Amino acid sequence: MAASIRVVSLNFFFGTNTTAAPNTTTARRTTTTTTTTRASRPRAAVAASSKAFFQSGFDHHQHHQHQSNTKKKRGDQQRVKNTPAGLETNAPLGVFVLEYDASNEDTEKTRSWKPIIKIAVSGAAGMISNHLLFKIASGEVFGPDQPVALRLLGSERSQVALEGVAMELEDCLFPLLREVDIGIDARKVFEDADWALLIGAKPRGPGMERGDLLEMNGGIFAEQGKALNEVAKKTCKVMVVGNPCNTNALICMANAPTLDKRNFHALTRLDENRAKCQLALKSGVFYETVSNVTIWGNHSTTQVPDFVNAKIGGERCTDVIEDQDWLENDFTPAIQTRGGLLIKKWGRSSAASTAVSIADAMKALVTPTEEGDWFSSAVITDGNPYGIEEGLVFSMPCRSNGDGSYEIVEGLKINDWLRERIKKSEEELKNERGCVAHLMGVEGGSCPVLEDTLLPGEM
Ligand code: LMR
Repeated sequence: MAASIRVVSLNFFFGTNTTAAPNTTTARRTTTTTTTTRASRPRAAVAASSKAFFQSGFDHHQHHQHQSNTKKKRGDQQRVKNTPAGLETNAPLGVFVLEYDASNEDTEKTRSWKPIIKIAVSGAAGMISNHLLFKIASGEVFGPDQPVALRLLGSERSQVALEGVAMELEDCLFPLLREVDIGIDARKVFEDADWALLIGAKPRGPGMERGDLLEMNGGIFAEQGKALNEVAKKTCKVMVVGNPCNTNALICMANAPTLDKRNFHALTRLDENRAKCQLALKSGVFYETVSNVTIWGNHSTTQVPDFVNAKIGGERCTDVIEDQDWLENDFTPAIQTRGGLLIKKWGRSSAASTAVSIADAMKALVTPTEEGDWFSSAVITDGNPYGIEEGLVFSMPCRSNGDGSYEIVEGLKINDWLRERIKKSEEELKNERGCVAHLMGVEGGSCPVLEDTLLPGEM
């Protein structure tokens, strides 16, 4: 880090929204290193050029051009017009406080920091994100020497709420949080992203068939895949949370052919955590002693929480819990349907525990996996050692050496009980893939009407 850091608040990512006023929709705190102190800038000219940024039809290249033209000016523009959305007041809001001289920052500390990473999050104004963003910004996920930029993607409906999220993030004074951008255009928000956490998706409404949900959300993930393909880093890791997450991840991957398929994940860590908790409760041990828990398959009611290969205190789970009937007929359906039970009690879908599990899933990829253990993630089946059909996103046991990549763990015992259930989840995912073939650019996919299996939340 340079001795002097200039921090400027700026963000104009609502580029396609012609109705929004520049000073009412954006918030960004960005850090640039510089050896000079603040220069005075012509403010009127800045206001005019910032406005141009909001014109519709403005493409990605224009965006770059515009950014470089106006880079040093936006802070001043914001300082002049420091008015939040819809309010005729000049009362300062933290999110719009624009520029400060950070030359007195603790440079001994910041000098040892790693280069900043950009984390894009869709559904950023939602409940899950509201828990997750603060964990990431605090350093809990990537460690105390990893500065982060958060890129928050919302919708037109949520854009004002997104400003509130950005304000709260600023108010936390997280040292590692160097930048917050908000916007509603995936092609801008995903630009140069190192991670994309795709949380936003529409819930299934009354009378809607599973195929309708696949179609509706699949369309969103196809678009987001295209955006990632165009603007994200080629090494970007994509974690899909919005349901039906396995197939949404597959659609996203198919629309982002220049990204490595192995960098796409659908979240089943929540199911793994749920399984570990129940096994710990049943055996009367602390949950940390439960290890080697695999969730196989789809994040749906066909998922298979694997007690056959799980361990408790280093021993086989089935030796510690000598109650096969409980494992098969209580534990298994309890995990498969836990999301639904939670919705019944809460009146809404899991949010905090989902956020914790996303953080766990990311940490699992950037931290070496403990010797002999593994974690669950739904990943591409190409080349998998378990004979699962290729071209699916299927939850399997994975290990990481901590560099963000993973390998599928081989050699787990698949007995008849597991095989039969894993097959059912595989069939379900093959069916889902057939239903969204058109969103993956594949001709003639079939979408047979099978038994309508459920998301965990649809009980
Ligand atoms: C969960 O497992 O809690 C969620 O996926 C449930 C849902 O359908 O939102």
